[in-house]
Amino acid sequence: MASEQGFCLWFTGLSGSGKTTITTLLVKELRKRGSKLEVLDGDIVRENLSKGLGFSKEDRDTNIRRIAFVADLLSRNDVPVITAAISPYREIRDEARKKMGDRFIEVYTQAPLEVCEERDVKGLYAKARAGEIKEFTGISDPYEPPENPEILIQTDKQSPEESAQQILDYLERRDLIPAAELATAS
Ligand code: ADX
Repeated sequence: MASEQGFCLWFTGLSGSGKTTITTLLVKELRKRGSKLEVLDGDIVRENLSKGLGFSKEDRDTNIRRIAFVADLLSRNDVPVITAAISPYREIRDEARKKMGDRFIEVYTQAPLEVCEERDVKGLYAKARAGEIKEFTGISDPYEPPENPEILIQTDKQSPEESAQQILDYLERRDLIPAAELATAS
């Protein structure tokens, strides 16, 4: 059955680019369709699995490797996973890709820095500009965009609902989740 297949939707993008917002919409819809699902959100992982880690390259790499480790364990046992961490370094994302093979689906939430900064949902960009937060991704720390993501979302041009739909369409096309009509009918 399609819904029993494991996969990992690996979100990557700047803080404020929409990773968590879109994840929340996806979770709602996938649960409605009866899919099993786990979410590894950057902010939540950092309060638990990665508690105590900071934002140096070394700590970010450790954080991302831990997320990839858990995502692999779950997805290889047919539990679909969504990861939503900035995951700024291409090399470490590619490590995760290698580990999970074709279960790994990279979703790049792309939005210009100015847009993320203007949204400033958590007020962190202002603090980073004021020098109160060091090594802030996009301001004083690098972000390496994916070169060939499976899914490209332009969150400054499309609504969160459209973005979620784009991802659902992709998963349906790959037969990884049941189609909406079937889910509603059953
Ligand atoms: S990652 O680089 O290791 O992938 P992760 O997604 O877990 O980052 O955490 C990013 C979140 O931590 C941001 O959304 C923001 O809320 C918070 N944060 C605090 N300090 C920083 C910083 N220096 N750079 C980026 N995000 C930060």
